[in-house]
Amino acid sequence: MDTQEVFNNSYQRCLRDPQFFYTFYDIFWQKDDKFRQMFANTDMSKQIKMLKLSIVMLMLSTTSKESRELFNNYAERHGPGGLNVAPLDFDIWLDSLLETVAQTDPLYNDNIDTAWRHCFANGLAMMKAACDAKTAHRPLYEI
Ligand code: HEM
Repeated sequence: MDTQEVFNNSYQRCLRDPQFFYTFYDIFWQKDDKFRQMFANTDMSKQIKMLKLSIVMLMLSTTSKESRELFNNYAERHGPGGLNVAPLDFDIWLDSLLETVAQTDPLYNDNIDTAWRHCFANGLAMMKAACDAKTAHRPLYEI
């Protein structure tokens, strides 16, 4: 099984739990109160739909120019002048997601953990670059 398949199978098992994304946000918000405050006025059911879509986009960002360009908009929204998310916050975001996977996927192991991290690496690097004051104003496909 290749990395993408390991990720996909694990993600499908996670999606069987209707609480998966709510658990993720609970875990993420426990890492720092500033995260909870950022979402204080957010419609979470809408946010979760966007997160589901953006997870697919994160995957595709490795292979498709279109999704990379769409991702540009997501990334800009998080950067300086937008939500002003710090690059390191994405590491906490990913660790929180993997903690949620560990709790939810009955087959979770190190191999599955590595597959998720591998599949998200490119998209997360793009998000971080967009949120880094030094590189923020260059189009992501040039970074
Ligand atoms: C790769 C990681 C992430 C992805 C894919 C992602 C994706 C998204 C998307 C698609 C939206 C909706 C954009 C829109 O409505 O225009 C959004 C909104 C938001 N994101 Fe993220 N996000 C990520 C990481 C983070 C992190 C690390 C933080 C905070 C530290 C964060 C905070 C927010 C907030 C506060 C909103 C706005 C909610 C609102 O409209 O009230 N995101 N995110």
